[in-house]
Amino acid sequence: MNLEKTRIVITGASRGLGAALARTLSSKGARLLLVARGAQALDAVAKETGAHALAADVGAPGAALTIAAAAQQLLGGVDVLIHNASVLGPTPLKELLDTTDAEFDSALQVNLLGPFRLTRALAGAMALKGRGLVVQVTSDAATSAYPTWGAYGVSKAGLEHLGRIWGAELEGRGVKFVSFDPGEMDTRLHAEAMPDADRAVLARPEAVASRLVAQLEAAP
Ligand SMILES: NC(=O)c1ccc[n+]([C@@H]2O[C@H](COP(=O)([O-])OP(=O)(O)OC[C@H]3O[C@@H](n4cnc5c(N)ncnc54)[C@H](OP(=O)(O)O)[C@@H]3O)[C@@H](O)[C@H]2O)c1
Repeated sequence: MNLEKTRIVITGASRGLGAALARTLSSKGARLLLVARGAQALDAVAKETGAHALAADVGAPGAALTIAAAAQQLLGGVDVLIHNASVLGPTPLKELLDTTDAEFDSALQVNLLGPFRLTRALAGAMALKGRGLVVQVTSDAATSAYPTWGAYGVSKAGLEHLGRIWGAELEGRGVKFVSFDPGEMDTRLHAEAMPDADRAVLARPEAVASRLVAQLEAAP
C-alpha cells in the first residue's frame, strides 16, 4: 500500500505507540485523524505531525459517529483505521476474584465495544468503495492466561476475534482486518501495569511503529 495521501484514523494517538505511528505515517505523507481523550497531549502530536485531532473517548457510545463524521469532513473518508487506544481495566492489576463489574466493563467499553462501534461506522463505506484496512492492536494477553490481566486479556481476545468475524462477513468486499501484537514497549500503559519492569529491555514505540508501518506498506 502506498501511504502517500492515504487517509488514516488512529485512536490512542496522544502518546506511546499511537503517537509513534502518527509520526511515522505522517513522514510517509499519510493524511491523519488522531483521537484520544486528553486534548492537550493530542493537539501537541497533531501539531507536530500536521494531523487533524479529535478529543474523544472511544469507549463512549456516541464517539464512533462523532469520529466517523469528523473523518468524513476533515479527510473525505477513511482508508485505514487503527484501533490502538486501550486501557488496562483495574490498575494496579487485580485477580478476577477482586475485579468489580465497573473495572471489567471499562476495559470492554474502550478495548472492544468502542472498536466494534467505530468499525461499524466506517466499514460500510469501505466496502462500498471496495477497499479498506482495519488494524486491531492486540496483545499476547489475548492468548495467554496471565493472572491479573483478566479484563484486559478478555477484551483483547474479543478484539482479535471481532476482527476475524468482520473479515469473514466482508470477505470479497475489499476490506481487510489484521491484528498486530506490538510486544512489550516502554510506554505509560506498560509502566502502569508493571511499574517494576526493567525499562531497558522494553522496545521503543518508534521501533514498533516502524514495524507496523512496514507491514502496511507491504500490504496489497
Ligand atoms: N505497552 C506495551 O507493552 C503493550 C504490549 C502489548 C500491547 N499493547 C497495546 O498497544 C496499544 C498502545 O498502547 P501504549 O502502550 O502505547 O499505551 P499508552 O502509552 O498508555 O497510550 C494509550 C493511548 O490511548 C489513549 N486512550 C486511552 N483510553 C482512551 C479512550 N477511552 N479513548 C480514546 N483514547 C484513549 C491514550 O490517551 P488518553 O489517555 O488521553 O485518552 C493514549 O493516547 C494498546 O492497544 C495496548 O493494549 C501495548
